Amino acid sequence: GGDGPGSGAVVGTKNVARSLEDRVLIPSDYSASVLFATGDLINAAGGDKKLQDITGDEMAVRAGDHHDGMYYFGLNAAGALDRNGSDRGVIAINFENINQQFLHAAGATVDASGNRTVADEVVKEINAHGVGLIEVKKNAGKFEVVAGSALSRRITPETEAKFAGPVAGSKWVKTKYSTDGLKSRGTLNNCAYGYTPWGTYLTCEENWAGYFDNASEAAPGVEYSRYGISKGQKGSYRWATAGSDDRFARWQLNSVGADASADYRNEANTFGWVVEIDPINAAVTPVKRTTFGRMAHECAYPSIITAGKKFAFYMGDDARFEYVYKFVPNKAWDAADATGGVSAGDKYLNDGVLYVAKYNADGTGTWIPLVAGTGALTAANGFADQAEVLVKTRAAADAVGATKMDRPEWCTVDHGSGDVFITLTNNTNRGVGTNPGVDAVNPRAANAYGEVLRMREAGSDPAATSFAWTIFVFGSPATLAASNLSELTADNDFGSPDGLWADPRGLLWIQTDNPHGNDMGKLCNNQMLVTIPPSAFDVKPVIKRFLVGPTQCELTGIDITPDGKTMFVNIQHPGEDTAAADVNAADSNAASKYSSAWPYDRSDATKAGTKAGRPRSATLVITKKDGGVIGF
Ligand code: FEO
Ligand code: CA
Ligand code: CA
Ligand code: CA
Repeated sequence: GGDGPGSGAVVGTKNVARSLEDRVLIPSDYSASVLFATGDLINAAGGDKKLQDITGDEMAVRAGDHHDGMYYFGLNAAGALDRNGSDRGVIAINFENINQQFLHAAGATVDASGNRTVADEVVKEINAHGVGLIEVKKNAGKFEVVAGSALSRRITPETEAKFAGPVAGSKWVKTKYSTDGLKSRGTLNNCAYGYTPWGTYLTCEENWAGYFDNASEAAPGVEYSRYGISKGQKGSYRWATAGSDDRFARWQLNSVGADASADYRNEANTFGWVVEIDPINAAVTPVKRTTFGRMAHECAYPSIITAGKKFAFYMGDDARFEYVYKFVPNKAWDAADATGGVSAGDKYLNDGVLYVAKYNADGTGTWIPLVAGTGALTAANGFADQAEVLVKTRAAADAVGATKMDRPEWCTVDHGSGDVFITLTNNTNRGVGTNPGVDAVNPRAANAYGEVLRMREAGSDPAATSFAWTIFVFGSPATLAASNLSELTADNDFGSPDGLWADPRGLLWIQTDNPHGNDMGKLCNNQMLVTIPPSAFDVKPVIKRFLVGPTQCELTGIDITPDGKTMFVNIQHPGEDTAAADVNAADSNAASKYSSAWPYDRSDATKAGTKAGRPRSATLVITKKDGGVIGF
């Protein structure tokens, strides 16, 4: 093996070398520019305000922070969805989290107890989270944000969402805001993504559990504790302490009496879902599709969709020793629904089976259904009905004996073979102390560099209940012979694969979120690699490094226009390790206390410069200098 079609055909003639520079590096026959960055107006070009000068309310109409999963919806000249639209589109993009230290003049303002004392700072942080729908258009051959677009809008943790599926209306999601449990406010920590064959976007709520204060005297139930919410925990940004207004108080899971509708005890049950969004119609309320289960959601990525056949969405739950899942709608695909929007979502996504994966040592595996009343999922075991199974998805997966994985991040599906690829980003606790030990599919103890897993459904049927698996590539610095199981070299070594995308032409793109301080991080900033999966299941791929990002960034989020000529890629949190104490109102970072100040030149993301401002997450536009097709 080792000599697949990726050996010569992909991305020009050369790999990009490792880099620790504070800039973007790409092959010399490509260009990269910034389309929009944190704090930019979403319906006008440019960063016309310093990050620290943007108010809380203003942030709700600007690009949020920590650009993550993203999907380009092509539009025709009339503004309708068009799967061939390569000159105009709406980018649906997740704003996962924030670099709090860069949002305010000199860090967050707190009192001696760490409580927030400036409400507008908290409003700004809340509004920097969520999702953006941002219209972009080619002008003189180059994509830019459309000025005055009627399509561009933000969805934040304050935007109303509906519940659908078995959890809707259940006791678990009855809140002060929604006493009937049919709606909630907003979406939070939106990480990876998915899309549907009926023209909608799926955004996935990942690390929502850390945002809540929990002063409740009762020990949290499994629906909280299994997601890491502990008694007495303090939220990462202490939003709950900013005031008694509902916008802040909802982040405190206090239980004040018998009536849940009087308090916020269930707020955290309203997060951890996959949310369906109409990309071009603001009048359609986002819908939390509870059939996908509740977890630290990564992708909800669709299988190959075939008329008259069942299909699936693949998902990871990104925490150490969590699981891989898929959701299979009960109804087979009817191509007449291709423009159905969220109404088609009501048809396919409220009724189906959630499965969790069990990997066997012999390279086979089983999808175990998580259905109330079957197997271990009985009322006696704490699963009274399907709503309870879904709210307690992790506990349900525990009960059926699924395989505990090394942090499942993104999933993608090869358009030719239908094979599923999943990043297992790392798990430094594997086999350490009392933690679970190695197994066939998680074979490295103290797994610092992760791997990419390949799966093939039985009969290539997305609805199959069994599959084959193999490890596609192990991450490792080439310099660590003991961990370099895939024989990577200085030209293509990487750690902690995270973003992953099989593009429509058959190229597989791997994006990394490697810790900056480990042996790989000392060699190279986070990066994006590309390969063509060999058609034979077990053949080792030839991998090329395509892009290296600026200092302390993560690469996450990628899409390409249908003509293959424009690629969108996200640079998340450059300079994230800059100490809050080193951030100052004047941005006087001449002594280089800001670890990054990228982007330096929006028209050329590969340029470095003098650190004269704050770093920003950003969406790149990548094109080939000759105007050709990306990757070939
Ligand atoms: Fe937000 Fe698991 O990455
Ligand atoms: Ca991720
Ligand atoms: Ca990650
Ligand atoms: Ca990140």
